[in-house]
Amino acid sequence: MHWGLANRLSRIIKPTTGRTVMLAVDHGYFLGPTRKLEVPGETIRPLIPYADALMLTRGVLRTSVDATADLPIVLRVSGGTSIIGPSLADEVITTAFEDAIRLNVSAVALSIFVGTEHERQTLLSLSELVNEGQRYGIPVLAVTAVGKELGKRDARFLSLCCRIAAELGASFVKTYYCEDFEKVVEGCPVPVVIAGGPKLDTFKDTLQLAHDAISRGAVGVDMGRNIWQSDHPIAAIRAVRAVVHENSPVDEAYDLFEQAKSAEGQT
Ligand code: 5RP
Repeated sequence: MHWGLANRLSRIIKPTTGRTVMLAVDHGYFLGPTRKLEVPGETIRPLIPYADALMLTRGVLRTSVDATADLPIVLRVSGGTSIIGPSLADEVITTAFEDAIRLNVSAVALSIFVGTEHERQTLLSLSELVNEGQRYGIPVLAVTAVGKELGKRDARFLSLCCRIAAELGASFVKTYYCEDFEKVVEGCPVPVVIAGGPKLDTFKDTLQLAHDAISRGAVGVDMGRNIWQSDHPIAAIRAVRAVVHENSPVDEAYDLFEQAKSAEGQT
């Protein structure tokens, strides 16, 4: 791996633990003003000290994150669809690579839609980004999007998506947790992080999800709604960090969540 690429990746996946807690706040690119992300800057600002990286679009980065913020940026560079449009899978690259460089990002991210009619288009976009990324030493994160057309989140399907992403040169892959998740990780020769998905019933469920993913080989999470839609987002991200970086058992991390809530006067 080129020095620049390895260096940027090490800003995201921390060499001390080999793990990462990425904060995903890119949802507006197809969902509009998602609940609790209506004013992105207000949601993001208090969480910056606890995130290993921030995943977002250039629009939210420019308008809602201070340029002096000391954390790596994973820039979403795919889009062009909306939740009310005909197909979420019909994504293209939306951001010039030059702009990613100008924004001093540590990685670029795009979604691939394997198994949809737009599979080829999104996989070719991934290849194009990898070519540019190799030229400039910038890692590419491939997001194995499921989209509203594909309900499938089983190990067979996600293994296929992750492996294809790695074969095309993604430096790391983001996918969903599923039963037999270790098979997804085994078949993918680059690091895997998981998305949190829609808000779960309880915060213990979120910690359990992170714990299960880590214990089955994920290097971390790229989580959004289960952190910032929490009534206690700082306590939530701190507890997720304990699971990811310190291998804390779920009950211990949950105790930390409760303590952090009290300490912040958020009870
Ligand atoms: C959408 C994304 C989101 O960043 C991803 O889903 C992570 O957020 P959440 O934990 O809320 O699911 O990549 O394609």
